[in-house]
Amino acid sequence: MPMRVAVAVSGRGSNLEALLRALGPDAPARVVLVVSDRADAPALSRAGTARIPAVTLGDPGDADEWLAVLERQAVDLVVLAGYLKLVPSGVIERFRGRIINIHPGLLPAYGGKGMYGRRVHQAVLASGARESGATVHLVDEVYDRGTILGQARVPVLPGDDPDRLAARVLEAEHRLLPAAVLAAAAAGRPVPVDQPVESHQ
Ligand code: GRF
Repeated sequence: MPMRVAVAVSGRGSNLEALLRALGPDAPARVVLVVSDRADAPALSRAGTARIPAVTLGDPGDADEWLAVLERQAVDLVVLAGYLKLVPSGVIERFRGRIINIHPGLLPAYGGKGMYGRRVHQAVLASGARESGATVHLVDEVYDRGTILGQARVPVLPGDDPDRLAARVLEAEHRLLPAAVLAAAAAGRPVPVDQPVESHQ
């Protein structure tokens, strides 16, 4: 039976799209649920197009509401893909080791509360770093702190601005996140992932 994956989103949903592209009908993992804290997240229309059940949480801080939604779809793995709120600790406890997040920087640098989206890329450029990238990590009670499972690196190029760097990192995210989910499906739980693996179209 494929691993049943819930994807939590707050915004655009390009990582959700990358997952859906990589997880074809024969894949060992299947997105069975999209959870959002915002009814206006564009990612929800992607879920609709793909005919995946989508739920906007009434109170994203309510662990019981989360757990009811996840349990209704018998979810095995939760993937935070551009989900900006802290996941309630009751959910972390129940799903410990089974929640992963994608971050648009090379953690442990450039992470923590308030470090998301453009701010990460601005900080990387301000630091003079020669490379950036994406990180997939386990989620615990603190933003961006859980065990790192894999990273995909990209160069910072002369003339980069936050938008150009963001676009390059996003491509890396779109390779790394499906690879991490496929590795998790193969192992039965999230595991370290070195290289993006082939997709199952
Ligand atoms: C990505 O850069 C991800 O790393 C971060 O939020 C962004 C979400 O983009 N956590 P999208 O909604 O998947 O397009």
